[in-house]
Amino acid sequence: MIDADQLGKFGVERSKIAVLGLGHVGLPTALGLAELGWEVLGADDDTEKVALLRSGKSWFYEPGLQSLLTKHLASGKFQPTHEVAAAIRGASVLFVCVGTPQRESGAPDLSQVEAVARTIAQNLNGYKLIIEKSTVPAITGQWIKRIIERHARAEAPLRSANGTGATPDFDVASNPEFLQEGKAVEDFFHPDRVVLGVDSERARRLLEEIYRPLECPILVTTVSTAELIKHAANAFLSTKISFINMISDVCEAVGADVEEVARGLGLDPRIGPDFLRAGIGFGGYCFPKDLRALIYLAEEHGVDCAMLREVEHINQRRIELFLRKMRKALWVLQGKTIAVLGLAFKPNTDDVREAPSLKVVEALTQEGVILRLYDPQAASGAQKLFPERPSRLTYCSSPYEAALGAHALLILTEWDEFGRLDWTQIHEAMETRIVVDGRNLFEPSRMFEAGFEYWSVGRVSAQPTSQREGQAETLQLEGRGRR
Ligand code: UGA
Repeated sequence: MIDADQLGKFGVERSKIAVLGLGHVGLPTALGLAELGWEVLGADDDTEKVALLRSGKSWFYEPGLQSLLTKHLASGKFQPTHEVAAAIRGASVLFVCVGTPQRESGAPDLSQVEAVARTIAQNLNGYKLIIEKSTVPAITGQWIKRIIERHARAEAPLRSANGTGATPDFDVASNPEFLQEGKAVEDFFHPDRVVLGVDSERARRLLEEIYRPLECPILVTTVSTAELIKHAANAFLSTKISFINMISDVCEAVGADVEEVARGLGLDPRIGPDFLRAGIGFGGYCFPKDLRALIYLAEEHGVDCAMLREVEHINQRRIELFLRKMRKALWVLQGKTIAVLGLAFKPNTDDVREAPSLKVVEALTQEGVILRLYDPQAASGAQKLFPERPSRLTYCSSPYEAALGAHALLILTEWDEFGRLDWTQIHEAMETRIVVDGRNLFEPSRMFEAGFEYWSVGRVSAQPTSQREGQAETLQLEGRGRR
């Protein structure tokens, strides 16, 4: 798919790309580019991660990733290496996918980005297009440029800059990723849009060439606009979630149904149906961190961010509200046995970073609850934070095992398999049949008919039939799954 002649026109001789950082963004990007026909040097200074990848195993679970890894290790199009400098020297196009973790203040820690910029500067053996893929604050591109100019070796190839003498020959571009964990591979090949932040014609044409095989709108902007689009997108989606969560509290107060409210809102094309699932709040490595990073950036520049602070505040309160609901259902929590279904921050991933489910687990541990945990993929990640404790905290191999002797069962991640549970089996296994569903997987009245007291989010809790007058009777057997 790569047109070598075209690349030559842009001053790029090798159809090689280096992806620097093989995390949740870097690895799907590297393998996606390999699938598009590029030779990809995947560099990461974590030797263990690289050794695992070389042995043919992805170091995290992501649908479709393992088969791409197997395919492109065999084809030779993906070469994992821990020699970052060598990868930089071996390619003209460099995707920067290193981590941008959060500091105490909420500011992103950009030390890995700076370190990679310095390594690039020391290995400029020809023209390089340096593409920020990691989520970074607007202005990072300018800093990368400055760092490279500052640290470039004397022998770096030069190009003349208008009236300012010669500068090292490179471009910095921003091409933010919009991959969602759990569908990162699908998102790579079928993006809603590709955003290209560039400040030179060469960078624009080269990036357009890279994304030519993908059919989607391409938006070309300046580097800092592209950087901001990413932060604004994540902040807006977080806002939608906190908004519907706030509405769900109102629903509970007045006896309305948040699922119906969300449906009614989503049918308005100006609002749209997505990201209106009420629940225990948003988590993961991106939303909480990116929201704080945007607030930090804006406030540093004197922009009032009260609105986004409230989005964060609503999200933080979800856990306490969920625990309050559990106390309403169970009264005393201490000493009770609770089954927890779902530990990952969302389905189809084994990622537990900033998982709301683990915040619930932590709070329940402190309350002296006996926990029986189950997740189809995320148990080993959770075990690193909450190790097994005999007769206090147990990891189970199925939802049914988790339900054994439980006084309540919590649903904290909406895995598809939870929508297909055999409730007769769960009913038999539990000590008292109470379900507290943080993801609204089921129709309340249906759960009551199956013999459970059922508490969910933003809806009337299940009660005996005599108290349910006026409630809709449109029931479905299966869980709702994800909208
Ligand atoms: C998010 C964005 O959706 C991606 O576009 C972006 O590329 C990525 O961050 C990133 O910056 O790297 P991701 O963190 O994988 O992707 O997960 P989402 O599917 O967006 O979900 C985030 C959190 O919001 C999860 O905890 C999920 O349970 C929660 N959520 C989502 C809700 O509570 N309600 C919803 O309606 C939707």
